Amino acid sequence: MKTDTNQAAAQHCPGCQGHQLSRRRFLVVGSGCVLGALGAAAADAAKVPTVDIGKLKDFAEAGISVKFIKDDFFVLRHQGKLFAASTTCPHMGNTLRRDPQDATRILCSSHGSTFDGEGMVQVGPATSGLVRLGITLNGEGHLVVDPNKEFPQEKWTDKGCFVEIP
Ligand code: FES
Repeated sequence: MKTDTNQAAAQHCPGCQGHQLSRRRFLVVGSGCVLGALGAAAADAAKVPTVDIGKLKDFAEAGISVKFIKDDFFVLRHQGKLFAASTTCPHMGNTLRRDPQDATRILCSSHGSTFDGEGMVQVGPATSGLVRLGITLNGEGHLVVDPNKEFPQEKWTDKGCFVEIP
C-alpha cells in the first residue's frame, strides 16, 4: 500500500520521481495540490492526525524505537529526553530505517547517510539532523506526536519537540 502511494506521488509530482515519499510526505504534497484548488478551508481537513504513542514508561530504555515507523517517525530516547523524528531523510527525502546491523543508528539506503540515536548526522551527504515532530504529554499522561509540526535541527531546542523524562 505504501508502495502504491509512493508510485501515485511520483506520477503526480515529477520532481519527486525516484524518491521514496513517506505517507506523511505524500499527504503533505497532496494537500498542497488540494489547497491550490480548494483554498484554506481544506488545510485543516488535510492535516495528518496526531498519534498517541503511549506513556513514558513505554519508552523506558534509551535508544531508537521503530514502533511507530508505520506513522513515519522514530521515537528516540536520548539523554533524558524523548522525541519523535521523521523517517524522511533530510538529504533528498528517502525513507530512513533503523540500521539492521546496529540498532543505535539510523540509515539511509539512498546515498548512505547515517544518524545517531539523537538524530544527528554521523555520515553524509546529509548535512543536517533528522526533522523532529511536535510532541506533548497530555492530561492523561500520554505522549502525543503531532506530525504537522516540524522542527529542523536549528529548532531542536524548541520545547515543542521534546518531552523531558523526570
Ligand atoms: S536521500 Fe538520504 S542520503 Fe540522500
